[in-house]
Amino acid sequence: MTELRDRSAETNLFNNSSNKDELPPKNPDTVSRVSDVELKRQVGLMSGIALIVGTMIGSGIFVSPKGVLRQTESVGMSLIIWLACGVLSMLGAVSYAELGTFIPKSGAEYAYLFEGFGGIPAFLFAWISVVILRPASVAAIALTFGNYAAQPFFPYGCEIPDIVIKLLAGSCILIIAWANCYSVRLATSVQNVFTVAKLLAIAIIIMTGFVRLGQGHTEYLNRSFEGSSTNGFAYAIAFYQGLWAYDGWNNLNYVTEEIKNPYRNLPLSIMIGIPLVTLCYLLVNISYFTVMSPDELLASSAVAVTLADRTLGVMAWIMPVFVALSTFGAANGTLFTSGRLTFVAAREGHMVEVLSMVHVKRLTPFPAVAFTSFLSILMIIPSNFDQLVNYFSFTAWLFYGGTMLALIVMRFTKKDVKRPIKVPIIIPIIVFLASIYLVIAPIIDEPALEYLYATIFIFAGLIFYIPFVYYKYIPPFMRKFTIFFQLLLEIAPTKTMPI
Ligand code: ARG
Repeated sequence: MTELRDRSAETNLFNNSSNKDELPPKNPDTVSRVSDVELKRQVGLMSGIALIVGTMIGSGIFVSPKGVLRQTESVGMSLIIWLACGVLSMLGAVSYAELGTFIPKSGAEYAYLFEGFGGIPAFLFAWISVVILRPASVAAIALTFGNYAAQPFFPYGCEIPDIVIKLLAGSCILIIAWANCYSVRLATSVQNVFTVAKLLAIAIIIMTGFVRLGQGHTEYLNRSFEGSSTNGFAYAIAFYQGLWAYDGWNNLNYVTEEIKNPYRNLPLSIMIGIPLVTLCYLLVNISYFTVMSPDELLASSAVAVTLADRTLGVMAWIMPVFVALSTFGAANGTLFTSGRLTFVAAREGHMVEVLSMVHVKRLTPFPAVAFTSFLSILMIIPSNFDQLVNYFSFTAWLFYGGTMLALIVMRFTKKDVKRPIKVPIIIPIIVFLASIYLVIAPIIDEPALEYLYATIFIFAGLIFYIPFVYYKYIPPFMRKFTIFFQLLLEIAPTKTMPI
């Protein structure tokens, strides 16, 4: 088994740790000390479920129904895609339950690719996550925030200028970046409060749907398969949009080291959380169609607002507010977990060391948060939601597929390691095949240059891997660079996660 290394003690400017097993700091200019708080197992079953449900429900369910319908061209097929996305996420997550209990390390794909295939794929995953996946997620969610937050200020049916949405999205990122740099407590509280908002938004939509169904509004749900698209490749894009709404099913695996009784709570949280979200998403989609026709849904820039405007009367303003809060929370959570991922990768020597450091007083992953926020803002400027989501999903499914392959390969290469949970091998095989379809079909359907750029970008990581990780070359200015940032930002390496 490859040893993951911990370099926190190697160049710790601030740490004058008394732990005798650690290397003494190379640099004697000790400024202050970062306490080595041991990581505690604090995530129980309820928090596990909340972590899964809370990240999955974000922007997608309030935006993606349009993208799914545009590709499938019928209500019935849309609902099937939403169900299929739920099933695929569930199969993926069940496979991750095996991985998470067999390799009980935090970091999900990063840790599994490391164990299965070694440092290079893990490095490429970390690289692409830090540079593309995470910033694209934050940007897509922030754009949804911008869209819904602007709704109350523009009369119904009035087109909102792009610049307004982008400015609001940028402000959202700046605020959550500040909260995440300021204190971990603040960031987690934002998360909890805003999770309630998203559940309320979902509950209002579902209740409206039930009332409308009770009143007999089923006209758009009858004969619902008429006109379904016959282009098999277009469905891959429909999946991208749907799977975006489900993304986050793997979230608990990022914090395996913090789950109480992980052998029980990891699989159980998955088994409860994902079907719950799938049910909510199906009901929300049905509700949309009890209120508007497919054409109206396609014409709406914010489906949940259209639903509220038609049904909630004077209380209609409540919907954009709750959706904006929900997306704000999701962006916050995504930024928060990005800090951890960057931290783990940098701790293994896979990222610039500065990114693994925490603020000495605030104990927050300041550099990682600032870096991700900066890239997210850059991504908002030229792109729109659909582009970002397609870009995200292509890259994400490439790595989910790779992780499935790692599971399958390890069944042979690590035969003797005990697996507390062993899923039927057909499950990871199905997810692996699905990921191949998801990655290849959109390229065949519409060969957009973005996919090529994304692929080149992934492999461009090797340019950094070979000299800096493999040959461990440290450019002469690097030490000065690190020390400069340490003193400027008051940051230091730490052994434990910034929480
Ligand atoms: N499913 C979320 C949404 O609909 C997006 C999740 C982004 N991914 C993540 N790992 N945070 O907004």
